Amino acid sequence: MTQEPKRYLITAALPYANGPIHIGHLAGVYVPADIYVRYLRAMGRDVAFVCGSDEHGVPVTIRAEQEGITVQEVVDKYHNLFKQSFADFGISFDIYSRTSNPIHHETAQDFFKNLYDKGLFEEKTEEQYYDEVKGRFLQDRYIRGTCPNCGNPDAQGDQCEKCGTALSPNELINPRSAYSNATPTLRPTKNWYLPLQDYAEWLREWIVEGHKDDWKTNVLGQCKSWIEDGLRPRAMTRDLDWGIDVPLEGLAGKKLYVWFEAPIGYISATKELTPDWEKYWKSADTKLVHFIGKDNIVFHCIIFPAMLKAYGDFILPENVPANEFMNLEGDKISTSRNWAVWLHEYLQDFPAKQDALRYALTANMPETKDNDFTWADFYTKYNSELVGILGNFINRVVVLTEKYFGGITPAVGKLQEIDQTLITTIAEAPEKIAQSLEQYRFREALAYYMDVARAGNKYMQDNAPWSLHKAGFEENKERIATILHISLQLVANLAVLGEPFLPFTAGKIRTMLGLPTTTWAQGGSMDLVKEGQTVQNTGLLFDKIEEASIEAQVGKLEATKKAREENATENKQEPAKEEKKTLVPLKPEIDYTDFEKIDIRVATVLTAEKVKGADKLLQLTLDTGIDTRTVVSGIALQYAPEDLVGKQVCLLANLAPRKLRGIMSQGMILTAETPEGTLRLIAPHEVVTNGSVVK
Ligand code: MF3
Ligand code: ZN
Repeated sequence: MTQEPKRYLITAALPYANGPIHIGHLAGVYVPADIYVRYLRAMGRDVAFVCGSDEHGVPVTIRAEQEGITVQEVVDKYHNLFKQSFADFGISFDIYSRTSNPIHHETAQDFFKNLYDKGLFEEKTEEQYYDEVKGRFLQDRYIRGTCPNCGNPDAQGDQCEKCGTALSPNELINPRSAYSNATPTLRPTKNWYLPLQDYAEWLREWIVEGHKDDWKTNVLGQCKSWIEDGLRPRAMTRDLDWGIDVPLEGLAGKKLYVWFEAPIGYISATKELTPDWEKYWKSADTKLVHFIGKDNIVFHCIIFPAMLKAYGDFILPENVPANEFMNLEGDKISTSRNWAVWLHEYLQDFPAKQDALRYALTANMPETKDNDFTWADFYTKYNSELVGILGNFINRVVVLTEKYFGGITPAVGKLQEIDQTLITTIAEAPEKIAQSLEQYRFREALAYYMDVARAGNKYMQDNAPWSLHKAGFEENKERIATILHISLQLVANLAVLGEPFLPFTAGKIRTMLGLPTTTWAQGGSMDLVKEGQTVQNTGLLFDKIEEASIEAQVGKLEATKKAREENATENKQEPAKEEKKTLVPLKPEIDYTDFEKIDIRVATVLTAEKVKGADKLLQLTLDTGIDTRTVVSGIALQYAPEDLVGKQVCLLANLAPRKLRGIMSQGMILTAETPEGTLRLIAPHEVVTNGSVVK
């Protein structure tokens, strides 16, 4: 889009209603989205900012089981908490909806029907993993196993959280059910698939060619690798009991795939916001931007666009500025391990300090790589930047105006070079900050904003009106008035330009200066505060954070860590009990003909080496008696390469080859997996001829 868009539709990922919101959510998605939207509004643009709770999907049902309450209770609880947390932190949605609303059910079902009626789904009966213990089909992410790419033993069936690779459940090594730890069995079931491969060429043109210059590298990279790896049909219906019914007759027990319906939630929420919703979704002069975290890229860049294209007459996102992850004190944020700073708890511990957190998260936003939030850094940033630069400057100006001029804005006199320099800095700031914001470079934008405050501090220091005052107020009055007048204009500019980043602070500054609202266009002006206007000293913008309260936060996290470690050692001390608990139950009976399909051979390891970048994988060359082949095996933690050369192993020889870390693996080495998850190689008792059949 070269012309300026007529209007904007900004979406922020619908959070799963399965646990409270933490700083990772805020830094990754909601703060950048809110900064962008506040900036657009200040520019006077027509914006709709939509979000809501994602109340379906298996995560919610799991949470209900964990908390021992109904699924409905879970989603109500978290939906209300989210709404409150977002409002508390000034995330200024035009609508915060929820996917349980009837309007969303209708919209999602209509979408499905449209594609169904046009014959755009593939209908397939396929074997799906089934948990015999729990008596339910297993959704992708509730199948766990070893990542074929990096060897992470806890990879999910849809993706490996450790290396970020997208997976399908049958790629997992040693799959198990996340509910019961049982080895899942396969059962046939019919579902409707979106043939993503049919959209591959179109997606490639649109993304890889069309957006190569304006999408972020991390986003482009993921999209490219999905497209290059070959897109496959993806089931849009699932065997579940919680979710939106598939709108076809006689399909009890089938729901719409949560990643089919949740993004449609953006459409439903817009419908709920305005009867005029179509102008946001169906006019080419609307700019649609999705704010998401990196784990959502494929859904927003590949699957949802393919759906929109299939439906027809919807616009596509202009950009998807996905962020990487924010870690906490060097460790990945995790709800299940209670490793997080929860927003509602933060506000209890630091009342009215929303902007302090917004600031720390923006200054350190994980825009191009994962970043780390530490309390020490939060404390330093607060003291040296918010208190030391921004707060200090504004406070000095307001206090001196009060002291010297009774809180009345003095007149500006003759300008000196030092004044002109500052005026130029102020004049250039709005454009400079805007350029960064338009490119989703929020850290940079915030740094430019702070440069303006810094310039103000320096101006104060260089002009030292207090020294002039000491030297004689009457003879220096005009100069002191000029300095404070200019400084007050700068303070007003800090309200104008700070509104996207620090909305609470900007509001307080406006109150001090008597500016009810501001627009971005006012930025750069030296006439925002009029001569004679009253300036109110409403107190410090950033009061002190006690060191003790930071220590308390660190202590809280240390306690969490300690509890986790103690738990781990306790578990280690009771191996017998543990063993019984996790033994995999027997699989259902099979015929000998089923077994006969499997071709296991004895082979000798010729060479063995570690796979670069994957600490659990070994690349082996095997002499199978029939051929020499390469196999990648996840045993690197248990066996050193040099210990394997010359040894015999058992090889599942007729397994379809697959690529692991770019290496084509032709078969699978058999191991015994102990209940603790240790792998032990299986080998013949005596050396036998390579190629001997194992049965
Ligand atoms: N609930 C998902 C998550 O938290 C995000 C859904 S985004 C939407 O990762 F597009 F589907 F709405
Ligand atoms: Zn992995």
